[in-house]
Amino acid sequence: MSTIGVLASGRGSNCEALLQATRAGRLHGRVVLVLSDRPDAPVLEKARRQGVDARHLDPGRAGARLTPEAEAAYVAALREAGAEWVALAGFMRIVGKPLLGAFPERIVNIHPSLLPAFPGLEAQRQALEYGVQVAGCTVHFVNEGVDTGPIVMQTAVPVRRGDTVESLSLRILDQEHELYVRALNLLLSGRWRLEGRRVVAIDEEDGA
Ligand code: GRF
Repeated sequence: MSTIGVLASGRGSNCEALLQATRAGRLHGRVVLVLSDRPDAPVLEKARRQGVDARHLDPGRAGARLTPEAEAAYVAALREAGAEWVALAGFMRIVGKPLLGAFPERIVNIHPSLLPAFPGLEAQRQALEYGVQVAGCTVHFVNEGVDTGPIVMQTAVPVRRGDTVESLSLRILDQEHELYVRALNLLLSGRWRLEGRRVVAIDEEDGA
Protein backbone atom coordinates (compact mmCIF):
# COMPACT_ATOMS: atom_id res chain seq x y z
CA MET A 1 0.00 0.00 0.00
CA SER A 2 1.35 3.44 -0.92
CA THR A 3 2.39 5.72 1.89
CA ILE A 4 1.43 9.35 2.41
CA GLY A 5 2.86 12.09 4.59
CA VAL A 6 0.41 14.87 5.45
CA LEU A 7 1.44 18.48 6.08
CA ALA A 8 -1.21 20.53 7.87
CA SER A 9 -1.46 23.67 9.97
CA GLY A 10 -4.89 23.60 11.56
CA ARG A 11 -8.16 21.81 12.12
CA GLY A 12 -7.27 18.67 10.18
CA SER A 13 -10.63 17.60 8.80
CA ASN A 14 -9.09 16.61 5.46
CA CYS A 15 -6.37 14.65 7.22
CA GLU A 16 -9.01 12.92 9.31
CA ALA A 17 -11.02 12.11 6.19
CA LEU A 18 -7.95 10.39 4.71
CA LEU A 19 -7.38 8.40 7.90
CA GLN A 20 -11.01 7.30 7.97
CA ALA A 21 -10.97 6.39 4.28
CA THR A 22 -7.97 4.12 4.82
CA ARG A 23 -9.73 2.41 7.73
CA ALA A 24 -12.85 1.94 5.62
CA GLY A 25 -10.80 0.49 2.75
CA ARG A 26 -11.76 3.38 0.46
CA LEU A 27 -8.28 4.91 0.20
CA HIS A 28 -5.65 2.65 -1.27
CA GLY A 29 -2.87 4.23 0.70
CA ARG A 30 -2.16 5.10 4.30
CA VAL A 31 -0.93 8.15 6.16
CA VAL A 32 2.38 7.32 7.85
CA LEU A 33 3.25 10.74 9.26
CA VAL A 34 1.60 14.09 9.95
CA LEU A 35 3.77 17.19 10.24
CA SER A 36 2.58 20.60 11.34
CA ASP A 37 4.31 23.97 11.40
CA ARG A 38 2.10 24.91 14.38
CA PRO A 39 2.59 23.22 17.74
CA ASP A 40 -1.06 23.72 18.74
CA ALA A 41 -2.65 22.52 15.50
CA PRO A 42 -5.65 20.27 16.31
CA VAL A 43 -4.62 18.02 13.40
CA LEU A 44 -1.76 16.65 15.54
CA GLU A 45 -4.06 15.34 18.25
CA LYS A 46 -6.54 14.01 15.70
CA ALA A 47 -3.83 11.98 13.98
CA ARG A 48 -2.32 10.68 17.22
CA ARG A 49 -5.72 9.45 18.33
CA GLN A 50 -5.76 7.31 15.19
CA GLY A 51 -2.33 5.96 16.07
CA VAL A 52 -0.45 7.99 13.46
CA ASP A 53 2.89 9.58 14.25
CA ALA A 54 2.21 13.34 14.31
CA ARG A 55 4.80 16.00 15.05
CA HIS A 56 5.27 19.71 15.18
CA LEU A 57 8.28 20.66 13.08
CA ASP A 58 9.58 24.19 13.48
CA PRO A 59 9.12 26.22 10.26
CA GLY A 60 12.22 28.26 11.14
CA ARG A 61 10.52 31.65 11.01
CA ALA A 62 7.15 33.28 10.71
CA GLY A 63 6.09 34.00 7.15
CA ALA A 64 4.88 32.32 4.03
CA ARG A 65 7.83 29.98 3.57
CA LEU A 66 9.81 27.52 5.60
CA THR A 67 13.51 28.29 5.93
CA PRO A 68 15.69 26.02 3.74
CA GLU A 69 16.98 24.32 6.90
CA ALA A 70 13.46 23.73 8.18
CA GLU A 71 12.37 22.43 4.81
CA ALA A 72 15.30 20.00 4.82
CA ALA A 73 14.09 18.74 8.20
CA TYR A 74 10.61 18.18 6.73
CA VAL A 75 12.15 16.20 3.86
CA ALA A 76 14.23 14.12 6.29
CA ALA A 77 11.21 13.31 8.49
CA LEU A 78 9.06 12.33 5.50
CA ARG A 79 11.81 10.13 4.08
CA GLU A 80 12.48 8.51 7.43
CA ALA A 81 8.79 7.67 7.74
CA GLY A 82 8.88 6.15 4.27
CA ALA A 83 6.37 8.57 2.74
CA GLU A 84 6.09 8.16 -1.03
CA TRP A 85 3.51 10.92 -1.46
CA VAL A 86 2.99 14.22 0.33
CA ALA A 87 -0.53 15.58 0.79
CA LEU A 88 -0.96 19.18 1.90
CA ALA A 89 -4.15 19.62 3.87
CA GLY A 90 -4.55 23.16 5.08
CA PHE A 91 -0.78 23.70 5.23
CA MET A 92 -0.34 27.46 5.44
CA ARG A 93 3.18 27.66 3.99
CA ILE A 94 4.51 27.85 0.47
CA VAL A 95 6.53 24.76 -0.37
CA GLY A 96 9.96 25.47 -1.85
CA LYS A 97 12.75 23.73 -3.72
CA PRO A 98 13.94 21.25 -1.07
CA LEU A 99 10.52 19.56 -0.80
CA LEU A 100 9.65 19.89 -4.48
CA GLY A 101 13.02 18.40 -5.45
CA ALA A 102 12.71 15.52 -2.98
CA PHE A 103 9.18 14.56 -4.10
CA PRO A 104 8.87 15.50 -7.78
CA GLU A 105 5.24 15.22 -8.94
CA ARG A 106 4.47 13.61 -5.63
CA ILE A 107 3.16 16.59 -3.67
CA VAL A 108 -0.51 17.47 -3.91
CA ASN A 109 -2.72 20.07 -2.30
CA ILE A 110 -6.43 20.59 -1.80
CA HIS A 111 -7.82 24.06 -2.36
CA PRO A 112 -11.40 25.26 -1.72
CA SER A 113 -12.09 26.81 -5.12
CA LEU A 114 -12.32 25.83 -8.76
CA LEU A 115 -8.78 26.81 -9.72
CA PRO A 116 -7.46 28.85 -11.44
CA ALA A 117 -10.17 31.04 -9.89
CA PHE A 118 -9.52 32.34 -6.39
CA PRO A 119 -6.08 31.02 -5.41
CA GLY A 120 -4.56 31.91 -2.04
CA LEU A 121 -6.30 32.74 1.21
CA GLU A 122 -10.04 32.86 1.87
CA ALA A 123 -10.98 31.33 -1.45
CA GLN A 124 -14.61 30.79 -0.43
CA ARG A 125 -14.98 34.45 0.56
CA GLN A 126 -13.36 35.53 -2.71
CA ALA A 127 -15.83 33.36 -4.66
CA LEU A 128 -18.86 34.66 -2.79
CA GLU A 129 -17.79 38.29 -3.10
CA TYR A 130 -17.11 37.87 -6.81
CA GLY A 131 -20.63 36.57 -7.24
CA VAL A 132 -19.91 33.21 -8.86
CA GLN A 133 -22.83 30.78 -9.06
CA VAL A 134 -20.62 27.71 -9.04
CA ALA A 135 -17.85 27.29 -6.47
CA GLY A 136 -15.97 24.09 -5.64
CA CYS A 137 -12.69 22.49 -4.75
CA THR A 138 -9.55 21.33 -6.53
CA VAL A 139 -6.83 18.79 -5.90
CA HIS A 140 -3.70 19.85 -7.74
CA PHE A 141 -0.01 19.11 -7.92
CA VAL A 142 2.13 21.54 -6.01
CA ASN A 143 4.66 23.60 -7.91
CA GLU A 144 6.56 26.74 -6.97
CA GLY A 145 3.53 29.02 -7.24
CA VAL A 146 0.56 29.46 -4.96
CA ASP A 147 -2.17 27.00 -6.04
CA THR A 148 -0.84 26.96 -9.63
CA GLY A 149 0.17 23.32 -10.25
CA PRO A 150 -1.54 20.93 -12.68
CA ILE A 151 -5.11 20.04 -11.74
CA VAL A 152 -5.74 16.43 -10.72
CA MET A 153 -9.51 16.58 -9.99
CA GLN A 154 -12.22 19.11 -9.22
CA THR A 155 -15.73 19.09 -7.79
CA ALA A 156 -18.26 21.85 -8.43
CA VAL A 157 -20.43 23.12 -5.58
CA PRO A 158 -23.37 25.39 -6.47
CA VAL A 159 -23.67 28.64 -4.55
CA ARG A 160 -27.11 28.96 -2.98
CA ARG A 161 -29.13 32.08 -2.46
CA GLY A 162 -28.39 33.38 1.03
CA ASP A 163 -25.08 31.49 1.34
CA THR A 164 -22.61 32.93 3.81
CA VAL A 165 -18.87 32.26 3.79
CA GLU A 166 -19.51 29.73 6.57
CA SER A 167 -22.34 27.85 4.88
CA LEU A 168 -20.57 27.72 1.52
CA SER A 169 -17.27 26.68 3.15
CA LEU A 170 -19.00 23.80 4.94
CA ARG A 171 -20.60 22.46 1.76
CA ILE A 172 -17.28 22.74 -0.07
CA LEU A 173 -15.50 21.02 2.82
CA ASP A 174 -17.83 18.01 2.57
CA GLN A 175 -16.86 17.68 -1.07
CA GLU A 176 -13.16 18.19 -0.28
CA HIS A 177 -13.18 15.11 1.92
CA GLU A 178 -14.53 12.95 -0.92
CA LEU A 179 -12.44 14.56 -3.62
CA TYR A 180 -9.12 14.11 -1.82
CA VAL A 181 -9.73 10.38 -1.49
CA ARG A 182 -10.72 9.99 -5.14
CA ALA A 183 -7.80 12.08 -6.42
CA LEU A 184 -5.27 10.22 -4.27
CA ASN A 185 -6.68 6.87 -5.37
CA LEU A 186 -6.11 7.86 -8.98
CA LEU A 187 -2.57 9.09 -8.33
CA LEU A 188 -1.60 6.14 -6.15
CA SER A 189 -2.91 3.72 -8.78
CA GLY A 190 -0.33 5.05 -11.22
CA ARG A 191 -2.98 4.99 -13.97
CA TRP A 192 -2.40 8.55 -15.10
CA ARG A 193 0.17 10.64 -16.87
CA LEU A 194 0.98 14.29 -17.23
CA GLU A 195 0.63 15.85 -20.68
CA GLY A 196 1.84 19.39 -20.25
CA ARG A 197 -0.48 20.69 -17.54
CA ARG A 198 -3.11 18.02 -18.12
CA VAL A 199 -3.43 15.05 -15.81
CA VAL A 200 -4.81 12.31 -18.04
CA ALA A 201 -6.35 9.26 -16.42
CA ILE A 202 -5.30 6.27 -18.47
CA ASP A 203 -8.64 4.45 -18.07
CA GLU A 204 -10.50 7.48 -19.33
CA GLU A 205 -8.34 7.71 -22.46
CA ASP A 206 -8.63 3.98 -23.21
CA GLY A 207 -12.36 4.07 -22.68
CA ALA A 208 -11.85 1.10 -20.35
C1 GRF B 1 -9.50 23.31 3.57
O1 GRF B 1 -10.58 24.11 3.17
C2 GRF B 1 -8.49 23.17 2.47
O2 GRF B 1 -9.07 23.16 1.19
C3 GRF B 1 -7.67 24.42 2.63
O3 GRF B 1 -7.55 24.59 4.02
C4 GRF B 1 -8.67 23.98 4.67
C5 GRF B 1 -8.12 23.00 5.64
O4 GRF B 1 -9.13 22.42 6.43
N1 GRF B 1 -6.40 24.29 1.95
P1 GRF B 1 -8.79 21.18 7.37
O5 GRF B 1 -7.64 21.59 8.27
O6 GRF B 1 -8.42 20.03 6.48
O7 GRF B 1 -10.05 20.94 8.14
